[in-house]
Amino acid sequence: MSVIDRIKNKARANVKRIVLPEGSEVRTIEAASILKREKIAEPILLGDPEEIRRAAAGIGADIDGICIEDPKNSPRAEEYAKLLYDIRRSKGLTEAEAASLISTVMYYGIMMVKTGDADGLVSGAVHSTGDMLRPALQILKTAPGSRIVSSSFLMDCPNKSLGEDGLLLYADCVVNPCPTAEELAEIAVASADTARRLCDVPEPRVAMLSFSTKGSANHELVEKVREATRIAHELAPELLLDGELQFDAAIVPEVAASKAKGSPVAGRANVLVFPDLQAGNIGYKITQRIGGAECFAVLQGLARPCNDLSRGCSVNDIVNTAAMTAVQAQ
Ligand code: ACO
Repeated sequence: MSVIDRIKNKARANVKRIVLPEGSEVRTIEAASILKREKIAEPILLGDPEEIRRAAAGIGADIDGICIEDPKNSPRAEEYAKLLYDIRRSKGLTEAEAASLISTVMYYGIMMVKTGDADGLVSGAVHSTGDMLRPALQILKTAPGSRIVSSSFLMDCPNKSLGEDGLLLYADCVVNPCPTAEELAEIAVASADTARRLCDVPEPRVAMLSFSTKGSANHELVEKVREATRIAHELAPELLLDGELQFDAAIVPEVAASKAKGSPVAGRANVLVFPDLQAGNIGYKITQRIGGAECFAVLQGLARPCNDLSRGCSVNDIVNTAAMTAVQAQ
């Protein structure tokens, strides 16, 4: 069974409420109808109810029984605006600005998650990554024990000899443009945790990626990855983690045997930590477009689960991301 099918089954075992702020967008409406029908999650659509029903009728989607909330006419808006003001007034937010933000679907949706009126949020069919991340970071903040929010991409590769039966986790390909060594170390530990908890990977094996393997090159960028490896060992001494490793040394046993003899990770890594966002984002797209991997992104380190879509997402992508969000909320 594929990793995403396993995650959907986990979601069905304890159904969670997932708010979809882009409620009048047709792919989102169709995804909500599938989530409800297949009992993967209890979707909540945000937006003008009339507009949502019209759009649903236009594509023949059944949204009977799906909760719809309109931030512009919600009895909860006042309470949410007050809470937002309390959270952000030290940053200069006024009461009027808080009320105006809460009338937008994104801030309203994030506040539903903050208050527990929803268990998680999925957006991005219309909004950019930053549009969702900024309010999520401002309002939900990081989970206890986490200093930064980052992401893992679940890469389900056609070559099943790679990673964990074809599954590789790539991090961070979404959030932190230029992580420090401390941040890279935290990303590594958080990604191993995502591998274990979300994907049931029994033994995460983490490679800290670089253009150098074990001292084959020297540069301040390589030094940062070595430092991150040292810090990650301190943060999680029990974790199988090694660096610095080149991509091939991390995943190809023959290359590992010549370049990184004796490494507990090299040649069989299943979690790959890229040194910055440029490398990570480019790397996952190469694996997807040229390597033919299916990929699914999740955020890690947020106090409550919210996940982002690409604006080119399909209905299936929305369903899959909602399933992952629901499992993170369990
Ligand atoms: N973890 C935790 N908190 C953070 C993080 C983080 N990684 N980054 C920012 N914050 C906090 C800040 O401390 C700040 O908190 P405060 O307002 O309470 O003091 C708040 O979030 C806002 O931070 P800013 O620095 O003002 O926000 P910024 O405008 O830099 O936005 C963002 C942060 C959206 C994450 C930015 O770093 C970003 O745009 N990242 C890249 C996103 C992207 O485009 N990814 C690639 C495309 S996605 C894809 O291809 C799948």
